[in-house]
Amino acid sequence: MGCGSGELALALSAGGWRVTAVDPRAPDGEPFVRAAVEELEAADHEPFDAAVAVLSLHHAGDIGTVLDKVRSLLRPGGVLVVDEFRKEHLADRPTAAFFYYQQLSLFHAGRRGGGDGASGGHQPDEASFESWYARISERRAGVHGERDFLAALEERFATRSVSYGPYLFRQGLDAEVEPLERKLIAEGGIRPTGLRWVGVLGS
Ligand SMILES: C[S@@+](CC[C@H](N)C(=O)[O-])C[C@H]1O[C@@H](n2cnc3c(N)ncnc32)[C@H](O)[C@@H]1O
Repeated sequence: MGCGSGELALALSAGGWRVTAVDPRAPDGEPFVRAAVEELEAADHEPFDAAVAVLSLHHAGDIGTVLDKVRSLLRPGGVLVVDEFRKEHLADRPTAAFFYYQQLSLFHAGRRGGGDGASGGHQPDEASFESWYARISERRAGVHGERDFLAALEERFATRSVSYGPYLFRQGLDAEVEPLERKLIAEGGIRPTGLRWVGVLGS
């Protein structure tokens, strides 16, 4: 759900999984459905074994409505995997400064991260850290935080695992930044801003 341009859906299909990838902005053709997940009808589909939401739940207008729909589409015992960021921890100033200056240095080195669109509008195109920090804090005010979606998930599914880890390296930075992000998290210098939650639908 919320497959975006569909790389994960295509990789899963290529790996032999039967996939339905739903997003109002989905590409044309199989395995995509161009719709909001709330628009799917359980009667039109075999019950799904699993649902995967990567960075889409924070955008869901009414999380409860979206998750109730996911419940109706999954088989009993079906799995929901949620991969998200923790906006509350992105507001931590050392963490935000790490993100800003890593992007800035990649940008000045002529690498991606400075404005290729992959960073979701977080790119450091402002005159200073302070103005960028104010701008992204304002942007994030409109999306759901960890507390909202964990509460809604735990109301509807049995939690199997929750883990926290690096996230910024894949948000307009570079895979090579991941070890540094991990190290700083382990040392307590910056916050783990990524969240993986896995839950199961009870019968
Ligand atoms: C930040 S993008 C993430 C896209 C992709 N999962 C990725 O990780 O690159 C969020 C996506 O969620 C989609 N989305 C938001 N609400 C949705 C809903 N109710 N049903 C389906 N897709 C939704 C948006 O259209 C958008 O493509």
